[in-house]
Amino acid sequence: MTTDRVQDLIARMTPEEKWGQLQIIFRPHRADAEDLVRRGLGSVFWPRSAAQTNALQRVAVEQTRLGIPVLVGLDVIHGQRTIGPVPLAQAASFDPELVRALAASAAAEARSGGVTWTFSPMLDVSRDPRWGRVVEGFGEDVHLTAVMGTAMVRGYQGEDLAGAGAIAATAKHFVAYGQPEGGRDYNTVDLSPHRLRNVHLEPFWAAVAAGAASIMAAFNTVSGVPMHAHRGLLTGVLKEEWDFDGIVVGDADGVRNLLPHGVAEDLADAVGLAFGAGLDVEMGGAPWDLDDAARARVDTARLDDAVTRVLMLKERLGLFDRPYVDEAAEITAPTPASRALARRAAARSAVLLKNDGTLPLHAPRRVLLTGPFADSTDHLGAWTQSFGAAAGTIADAMRDRLPHADVRVMSGVDVLDDDAEGIPAVLAAARGCDVVVVCVGEPSSLSGEAASRSDLRLPGRQADLIRAVAGCGIPFVVVLENGRPLVVADWIDDAPAVLEAWHGGTEAARAIVDVLVGDAEPAGRLPMSFPRSAGQVPIHYAHENTGRPATTGGTLTTDVVDIGVQGPANVAEKFTSKYLDLELGPQFAFGHGGGYATFARSAPAVSEGCVRLEELEAGRSVTVTIDVTNTSERSGDDVIQVYVEDVVASIAPPVRRLVAFDRRTLAPGETTTFGMDIGFEQLGFWRTDAAAAAFVVEPGLFRLHVGSTLTTAVPVELRVE
Ligand code: NOJ
Repeated sequence: MTTDRVQDLIARMTPEEKWGQLQIIFRPHRADAEDLVRRGLGSVFWPRSAAQTNALQRVAVEQTRLGIPVLVGLDVIHGQRTIGPVPLAQAASFDPELVRALAASAAAEARSGGVTWTFSPMLDVSRDPRWGRVVEGFGEDVHLTAVMGTAMVRGYQGEDLAGAGAIAATAKHFVAYGQPEGGRDYNTVDLSPHRLRNVHLEPFWAAVAAGAASIMAAFNTVSGVPMHAHRGLLTGVLKEEWDFDGIVVGDADGVRNLLPHGVAEDLADAVGLAFGAGLDVEMGGAPWDLDDAARARVDTARLDDAVTRVLMLKERLGLFDRPYVDEAAEITAPTPASRALARRAAARSAVLLKNDGTLPLHAPRRVLLTGPFADSTDHLGAWTQSFGAAAGTIADAMRDRLPHADVRVMSGVDVLDDDAEGIPAVLAAARGCDVVVVCVGEPSSLSGEAASRSDLRLPGRQADLIRAVAGCGIPFVVVLENGRPLVVADWIDDAPAVLEAWHGGTEAARAIVDVLVGDAEPAGRLPMSFPRSAGQVPIHYAHENTGRPATTGGTLTTDVVDIGVQGPANVAEKFTSKYLDLELGPQFAFGHGGGYATFARSAPAVSEGCVRLEELEAGRSVTVTIDVTNTSERSGDDVIQVYVEDVVASIAPPVRRLVAFDRRTLAPGETTTFGMDIGFEQLGFWRTDAAAAAFVVEPGLFRLHVGSTLTTAVPVELRVE
């Protein structure tokens, strides 16, 4: 799609002007930025004020031959001024409308300062918590990632990109960046067409269908081909098969990185490969360093296609007609409304991992807050700009909320140090307290880009602190703040109640206290499995079955096994798929989470037990229902999840696959019916064994597992004929 204005510009542009439109440069100094824009640079990565952004736009509009405004890009990831919970936490809310609202609030803040393009949402399905970037995505599940990702795209872009509070979204990182070998950032990805189609491409397809304005190429290779040079995926799948007409933007220096990848001889080769493969905008400035002869490796049709896409985004954003923002209307600090939203979001993202009734706190008179996060302001998470509004401390929030209580604070251990000398003082301070709240976790800097870990336990001596507090016999709860699933096996059994609060943003501290005292209900669900051990990862619930599934964990033994006798009995006992030194399954599975309210649930039912394939293909669906009653005296949320089990298929199917979910608040005593439609899309999968991949539903028996967590879901049968 194009407009007369864009066509007219393309016809008048010189090759130099066209190449200028195809680059975005990082955080240039102000004078440099003006020079670059005067030379024709099309996009700037620019964390500046509205006034400075307007000044830069003025250079583009008034001091260049064609007066083309610049795109102002920035990583607005989970808030601009008001910082919301990290995306992994947002996924835990199982509340897409909340995710949309947070993105809309961030977009309004960003656009008011002149930002028009964000590099979010991250749609990398992440099944390896060693990878630090799991914090920036929506976890291990394809459906949850697709739903939350499209909600975020809608939040950023609104109904109309030219609207006052809208910015262009970028779905990233295309594709499979979430499956690096060893969980090490940027590492090689080698995967089958089957997993590529059924797992990694799906959320991007959903984002394209939702109108995402741009897609970012990933740093990794996919089966030997770096994504910045992957014509088959960037052009073949994204632009041709899916008809994506937005911008494919490179990741930071991803084009230059083709040299160390070992697929390009020099920069000219790299630029030629990348733009030839379908890249439209390079991030970093590589094309500036090339002469016309080198740039000629990209043919005119491809060059014009890329420039058209960039100019069309500027057109859709309304930049040609309104390049400037109203400086007086710039949002420079959180408003009461954005704070309230962030606080609600942080509370709704919290997951109650376990609780013996210690939570909510019962009007304590004397409380000890301990652990490195008790008096810390490190709640913002891995990715915020320096002007994100700071968070308060849990200690202050607790004192505000319980003005008549004696709230003591003593960290005991540092978050990273190997020094446990402060623990005895904590135990002394705990004496006489009604409850101890142990606030532990990972600093924000331990997750995010280039922040992979090989050890997933709490860093430093935090586990020692928990165990020591457990030993003193006073009721206590653990609050976790982290950006990835952790290994908690070394202390979890000692803790009566554990709240996973993630990195919750500007309002995290108040939200944590809201949940601790019961002003808010913790009803989040885990978006990623918590492993028992780092040796178990990658671990995810939607795995395929082996031919020898285990029913119990293994036992270490020195018995010599006669591998000649693999009879049925031996296979059942010994030759099954497990670790000899671990119980089966994760510590906490995907979808796990409790709450304070209690619920009774009926058996699930389907509107029809049998449906014809042709009808499904024609758009017919069945409805699966479950009645839920709030049996407690407090209002609370239930999160109903529907998992499909395709009992027999032509390929080994995942044992379960989330296809629908809904979170609702029920008043005390209230009964409600949750109903979800299950149709072709939910029952099908991609077959990749023919020349062209095909999405199919295969007739046969399906079980729909319905419930409040994965492990407690109850099956109901559906037959497709
Ligand atoms: C590198 C990251 O991978 C990407 O997600 C981000 O948008 C760019 N840097 C720009 O900061």
